[in-house]
Amino acid sequence: MCGIVGIVQQQETKIGKTIIEALTKLEYRGYDSVGIASIFDNKVLITKDQGKISEVTERIDINKIKGKIAIGHTRWATHGPPTKENAHPHTDCSGEISVIHNGIVENFRALKEELLNQGHSFQSETDTEIIPHMIEQLVKKEDILLKEAIIQVVRRLEGTFAICVVSSLEPDKIFCAKRDSPLVIGINSDRMFCASDIPAFLDKTRKVVLLHDDEFVTLSSEGYEIIDFNTMVKIQRKPHIVSWKPEMAQKAGFPHFMLKEIHEQPNSLADYIRIKQPALNKIADKIYNAEKIFLLAAGTAHYSTLTGEHLIRKYAKKSCSAIISSEYESITSLIDEDTVILPVSQSGETMDTIMAIKNAKELGASILSAVNVIGSTITRHSDEVLYLYAGPEIGVAATKTYTAQTIAMWDIGLELGKLSGEIDNSEYLAARKLFQEIPTVVKQTIVRNEARANHIASWFAKKNSSFYLGRGLNLQTANEGALKMKEISYIHSEAYPAGESKHGPIALVEEDYPVVFVAPKDQTNKKMISNIMEMKARGATAIIVMEEGDKEIEELAKWKLEVPKGYSEMLTTIPYIIPLQVLAYYTAVRKNLNPDYPKNLSKVVTVL
Ligand code: M6R
Repeated sequence: MCGIVGIVQQQETKIGKTIIEALTKLEYRGYDSVGIASIFDNKVLITKDQGKISEVTERIDINKIKGKIAIGHTRWATHGPPTKENAHPHTDCSGEISVIHNGIVENFRALKEELLNQGHSFQSETDTEIIPHMIEQLVKKEDILLKEAIIQVVRRLEGTFAICVVSSLEPDKIFCAKRDSPLVIGINSDRMFCASDIPAFLDKTRKVVLLHDDEFVTLSSEGYEIIDFNTMVKIQRKPHIVSWKPEMAQKAGFPHFMLKEIHEQPNSLADYIRIKQPALNKIADKIYNAEKIFLLAAGTAHYSTLTGEHLIRKYAKKSCSAIISSEYESITSLIDEDTVILPVSQSGETMDTIMAIKNAKELGASILSAVNVIGSTITRHSDEVLYLYAGPEIGVAATKTYTAQTIAMWDIGLELGKLSGEIDNSEYLAARKLFQEIPTVVKQTIVRNEARANHIASWFAKKNSSFYLGRGLNLQTANEGALKMKEISYIHSEAYPAGESKHGPIALVEEDYPVVFVAPKDQTNKKMISNIMEMKARGATAIIVMEEGDKEIEELAKWKLEVPKGYSEMLTTIPYIIPLQVLAYYTAVRKNLNPDYPKNLSKVVTVL
């Protein structure tokens, strides 16, 4: 988590403004505090404070921050609360060396102890602050050159880091290093950028260099030099041009990124369908021939892997399990060369997933991933990658990437069905035809439900707790719908298998208690009707996501959310989530909350 950015340019400008513009595009990574270190008149100037960017920039005049070089940080607090003191950048005792950091230095206590004994004094509770002091110790007390000192320091760090260092000792350079936290370089004719993520500089350049673990970079306004910080070998890596467009990382007239991204789904799904990926068949083949199959993911991505698990069992007729990445430990004894691991991730940077696949790879497993961000860490550890092609997602709550992950699971599932003979050629072709229709159905579903969801939201916003119930494949839809509601509206929302709800949760139901049912007209429909009746008999208010024209279900609903006909068996998990995305969005808005930046969350979770 945390967003970091650095700029080094030939001309002196109001660089504070450019840093803040870039940080704003990274705010989805953390918004506890903001800080900038700039160099002006050969001095390091630190400007930082607690709060979101919009709050901090009301208190400080960023136009006053001038220069050719600056680094900036937006924080997601790990060590120490979100205070001004704990905000990055952090400096050494003299204030000449300044550091921003994304990640966690695991051995910081021992290193801090050493520095305290050497006479250094600390201003914050962060793990990061040891880094400028360690550099200072080498440069000032041991007479080592700045670059060499930074390299020696990063070699001693345990844990994860992407750091940027500026110093008045070499006022025309930014030094960066990374291990397990993302860092990319952006190249322009007269300036260079470094950042946690491409959207930070996408409006300035699409020329990008991706950095790998244990690399050290020297950035000047003229160019970049990459070395392996363990071997000191120089690395030649040419930039590539990313296909993302700047407007993809802007709100395009929508009040929030989340709503924009909900509306982008017809296009993002169409892109996924349109782009034929050779990896698809290779992945299906490897899964089909594997002895053991595990899907790994966190959060929303985990719910998409539950669809994958269901489809692999159904179509490949193979036993497989979707495991939450942070629970990977429980399956390590099963991993070997006959194992396929399928990690699914939007960012490709989720640390729980990265650590799990690294270990699985060491044990001989094949890593076949489905990831949105091209070149991200997970893709680099993968044998094959199925890209989601959803474009940049800024809202912390995943929406378009969930449907992209889910369609990827269906894509793999259908290929497996063909391989195993579970579906014959005509069924396969019919399913593929349905596939093509998904973007249109999603569009119709958004149009049909937005006003309805907004209306229901005015009632939902007053509630403290709710259930989301589903069966079969759409238990995942209930899970994802409940996650959306809780993470952006802070209403406790618990998903449960509808049939299981009578074994305990029903005890909580009272008059006017919200229960959201996902009830397509498929083989689960009749049983769902019983579950709806059970809940209503205890006073529950039923909000039902149902198929258009399903009269029996409609009669039970206080409020209906509708999906067009024809998707009852195949691909339901995609259109059925749409009404629940808009319901969560409007509930948060009704509560005057910003759905893009829910409290305590970060879009990219790079800590364990
Ligand atoms: O980048 P990833 O897909 O690996 O992220 C996984 C989760 O952190 C993410 O899905 C999270 O649960 C979202 N906030 C959900 O909206």
